[in-house]
Order: sequence, then structure tokens, then C-alpha cells
Amino acid sequence: MKNVLITGASRGIGRAIALKMAEDSSRLFLNSLHGGERLEEVAAEIVKLRTEKGIAGSVNTIACDVGDPAAVREMFRTIESLVDEREGKPGIDILINNAGISHIGLSQDTDDETWNRIMAVNLSALHYCSREAIPHMLAAGEGRILNISSVWGNVGASCEVAYSASKGGVNAFTKALAKELAPSHIAVNAIACGCIDTDMNRHFDEAERKELCEEIPAGRFALPEEVAGLAAAICSQSTYLTGQIITFDGGWT
Ligand SMILES: NC(=O)c1ccc[n+]([C@@H]2O[C@H](COP(=O)([O-])OP(=O)(O)OC[C@H]3O[C@@H](n4cnc5c(N)ncnc54)[C@H](OP(=O)(O)O)[C@@H]3O)[C@@H](O)[C@H]2O)c1
Repeated sequence: MKNVLITGASRGIGRAIALKMAEDSSRLFLNSLHGGERLEEVAAEIVKLRTEKGIAGSVNTIACDVGDPAAVREMFRTIESLVDEREGKPGIDILINNAGISHIGLSQDTDDETWNRIMAVNLSALHYCSREAIPHMLAAGEGRILNISSVWGNVGASCEVAYSASKGGVNAFTKALAKELAPSHIAVNAIACGCIDTDMNRHFDEAERKELCEEIPAGRFALPEEVAGLAAAICSQSTYLTGQIITFDGGWT
């Protein structure tokens, strides 16, 4: 049974990925910044779904700021303590780096604190989580890391310079780490999302949303469940699929 960690699993894309991954038996570890009721509700939904469908596995929740290296280290020690060694090796087999934050504003108005926070959560967190997960993957002889990126990492967005730079970093991180880990049968890929209907886009009013939909050839935002379907498909492929930034944007960019 595989051990799967999904960061930012309390809402939006991370929550949808957690529910999708629950369709196969696994030990699921769900992270979010605040933990609490929201994250527990996702875990409860998974238990219910698995009970109804007779799918084996477990689910644990861990609140942790993935932008804080010490907190990430502690999260991985907690995960190891939760896996019964008689049942399987403690460590993560599939790491889904999904947690992220956005910021809209002019570049010259972006203060150091905001810039550093975006870089920590959107980019450095991938390094903190991956370096904890890799030793177990190497020992297991296989592993998968999937990063949730953005089309702004490919093409850049006005008034989202810090966010775009962080996601551009995610794309380069993905390609470089994939090369480093391919000889060890560990696949590293990313999904560059376009407009997905989550809290991250709630700031758009009705008129802005309509305008955006008119720009997107598919004519709509995607649902988080659609990203989740792709994420699960990527994680079930041969590890020969690696180093890819898969754009999922309805033909937008
Ligand atoms: N929505 C889009 O259109 C879109 C487009 C391109 C890329 N993406 C990317 O997709 C990913 C998920 O976005 P979303 O739209 O699902 O966002 P969302 O609905 O705002 O959810 C964000 C998730 O990340 C968690 N999180 C935030 N900061 C964290 C931290 N420091 N440590 C741990 N968890 C943290 C949140 O936890 P709490 O609930 O505890 O706050 C929440 O679970 C992000 O990387 C985002 O950049 C989204």
C-alpha cells in the first residue's frame, strides 16, 4: 500500500486530489496550513467514501506551514511515526505539492514580506517536502512527485509578478529534479493550471469572470475535480513520464 502526502488538501484542488486518490487503497496524509474542521471534513468524507466502496487504507491529517522548513521536518517525523512498520515502510511514495497562495498587486508595491512568503509557500516548500520524501523513495526504488503549478509560471501575468516568478521556479525545479531522480525511477512532473474554480479566484466579480471565460477557448473555468483526474492519471503512469509541465488551461495560453 502506497503512502501519499497531499499538501493544501483542505480546499480547492488539493481537496479534490485527496478525494480522487482515495479511490485507490493507500495511506493518505492530508496537510493544510490551518488544519482544523475543514481538513477533518475532507478526511471524514474519505473515510465515508472508502467504507461505502470497500476500499482499504487510512487517512491522517497534519496541520503544518509548508513554507517553514522546521515545520516540514516535523511533519515528516509525524508521518513516519504514524506508519506501522509491520504494515509498510515509513515514508512517502507519492508527494503532491499543491499548497499555494496568490497575490495580486503591482510589482513595485510588493513588500519584502509578501515576496518572501510567496516564494516560501509556492516554491521553497517543494524543496522542503521533496528532500524529506526522496530518501524513502530511493530506498523503495520508485516514487512520484507532482507539483501543482500555473500557466503564469509559463507565460507570466501582469500584477502577479511574485506569483508568476514562484511558479516559473516550480517549473524549473520540476525539470531539474526530474533529471536528478530519473535514474532512481522517481518521476517528477507538474500540472500548469489555468483558471480553476476555487477560493483562489473568488475575488473576481461576475463581470470579470465573464470576461475571463470569453478569453478561454474552452469558455469556462475548470473544476478542481478535473485537475484531480489528471493528477491521479499522472501518478499512475510509468515513471518514464517525467520532467513534464502539463498545461491544463482549456486552450487559454
Ligand atoms: N485556482 C486556480 O485557478 C489555480 C491556477 C493555477 C494554479 N493554481 C495552484 O493550485 C494550487 C491549489 O490552489 P487552489 O486554487 O486549490 O487554492 P485554495 O483553494 O486557495 O487552497 C489553498 C490550499 O493551500 C493551503 N495552504 C496555503 N498556504 C499553506 C501553507 N503555508 N502550508 C500548508 N498549506 C497551505 C490552504 O490551507 P488552509 O485551508 O489551511 O488555508 C488550502 O488547503 C496552488 O499551488 C495554486 O497556486 C491554482
